[in-house]
Amino acid sequence: MLRRLHKDQPASFEFTSANLAWARGQISKYPEGRQASAVIPLLWRAQEQEGWLSRPAIEFVAEMLGMAYIRVLEVATFYFMFQLQPVGSVAHIQICGTTSCMICGAEDLVAVAKELIAPAPHTLSADGKFSWEEVECLGACANAPMAQIGKDYYEDLTGEKLRELIGRFSKGEVPVPGSQIGRYAAEPASGLTSLTDHEAGRAKHNASAALAVGIGDTVKRIDGTEVPLTTPWLGKSAGAAKE
Ligand code: FES
Repeated sequence: MLRRLHKDQPASFEFTSANLAWARGQISKYPEGRQASAVIPLLWRAQEQEGWLSRPAIEFVAEMLGMAYIRVLEVATFYFMFQLQPVGSVAHIQICGTTSCMICGAEDLVAVAKELIAPAPHTLSADGKFSWEEVECLGACANAPMAQIGKDYYEDLTGEKLRELIGRFSKGEVPVPGSQIGRYAAEPASGLTSLTDHEAGRAKHNASAALAVGIGDTVKRIDGTEVPLTTPWLGKSAGAAKE
């Protein structure tokens, strides 16, 4: 697939102050002269902040790292995880279309995305709230079919369940990630067959869903204030390191 910058670009890009401190913290992991090693984390944080990677964002990261623009553009256009066009203001939905998910009904999910969002992937819905794409295996095959919505996984989906999720996100709700048929994690759908001693008294959500619920960043644009920033490799906080 040809990947190029979007035709409509914003005039500028800047990290929020907390994201800038985070970025400087990442750069400090690497020895002098090796700052380019931080290019993927910085591009990713720029995308988390804006939803997608614009040309000004790519240039901003290049400036921060002392890299030629073309080198950073090469990275941004090579990796499919980088969105080079605007995504939905509420959520970008990534539907797994690989073997397990395809066998278990991924085509039904794609059909719902085409109907409710847009006929073609990487296209904004009429209200600008959603976009979608089909992606390769996201590693949740035991809970197929599934989709990544924002930062989290929604599993054991059907077309109807995805329709319901999109409706709830559209209203501003953030449904709990994980299995949508009540599985705790990736145990057999019929229930645990081993390690049953651990079933009683377990936390309400599995670790992944609990983290998502606790931080609340499933579909949030990341501004750097979500979790405390530390740079343990420096033995002090990134804020202090900056000064
Ligand atoms: S095949 Fe869909 S998550 Fe692996």
